[in-house]
Amino acid sequence: MKSSLNAAMTPEAGELGGAVVSLQQVTKIYPDGNVQALAGVTLDLPEQAFVSVMGPSGSGKSTLLNLIGGLDLPTSGRVLFRGQSLATHQQLDKLRSQTIGFVFQTFHLLPNLTARENVQLPMFGDGRSDAQRESSAAELLALVGMADRQQHLPGQLSIGQRQRVAIARALANQPALLLADEPTGSLDSASGTAVMDLLSRLHCELGMALVVVTHDKAVASRADRTLHMLDGRVVGDTVTS
Ligand SMILES: Nc1ncnc2c1ncn2[C@@H]1O[C@H](COP(=O)(O)OP(=O)(O)OP(=O)(O)O)[C@@H](O)[C@H]1O
Ligand SMILES: [Mg+2]
Repeated sequence: MKSSLNAAMTPEAGELGGAVVSLQQVTKIYPDGNVQALAGVTLDLPEQAFVSVMGPSGSGKSTLLNLIGGLDLPTSGRVLFRGQSLATHQQLDKLRSQTIGFVFQTFHLLPNLTARENVQLPMFGDGRSDAQRESSAAELLALVGMADRQQHLPGQLSIGQRQRVAIARALANQPALLLADEPTGSLDSASGTAVMDLLSRLHCELGMALVVVTHDKAVASRADRTLHMLDGRVVGDTVTS
C-alpha cells in the first residue's frame, strides 16, 4: 500500500528542491469591509516541505492558505503552482481537486455519508470505477487507522476520528500539497497529538508538501520551518528543526 501511494505522489512537473507553490508580492483586499488581509507576501514552498504558519487571530493565516490552495485569488501579485500562475490556469478546479488536499478545523464531512463514502467524494469524475474508488477509500482509511470504522457516519465517530476521515479524504487524489487550517483546533490535546503524529507520518511516508496553520507552538514545532504572520505580512521565517 505504502509503495503504490508513494509512487503516485512523486512530483511530476516539479523537481525535488523546486517550489511547489511560490507567492510573489501577494496582496488580498476583501471588498467586504475593505480589509487588507495580506499585504505583500513573497515566499516559496519547496516540494515536500513541512511548514507551519502562526500568528494572532486576523493576521491573515487562513487567507494565505486559501490563496496557496487556489480557493481564492489575490487582489494583486501572483500565486504560482509549479511555475504556473493560478490566476490564468485553464483548469484551476481540476488542479485543485487533483493536486491539493485541504483539511479544515471543523472537518467538513457530509453527515449522511459513511466514512468510506466521504473519502470517495473527491475521486468522482476521474474515471475510476466504483470498485476502484471503494478500494482506494478503504486503503486510505486504513492508512489513517480507521479501517474498522468505514461504514460509520460522522455522527457515530469521535471528534478525532472525524478529523482522521477528513485527512483520508484530503489524500484521496494523492496531493502534491496538503493544506491544513488549524487541524487540531477542535480536538482535545491527546487527539490533537494523534492527528499531528498522523500528519507528520503521512508527510514523511508520502512525500507531499504540508502546510499547517496553528495557534499551538507544540504543533508548529513539528514542522521544518515556521512562518510568523502579523497584519497580513510574514514577519518571521524560522527553521524549527
Ligand atoms: N470573506 C471575508 N470578507 C471580509 N473580510 C475577511 C474575510 N475573510 C477574512 N477577512 C478578514 O481578513 C483578515 C484576515 O483573516 P483570516 O481569516 O485570514 O485570519 P486568521 O489569521 O486566519 O485568523 P484566525 O486565527 O482567527 O483564524 C481579518 O481581519 C478578517 O476579518
Ligand atoms: Mg483562520
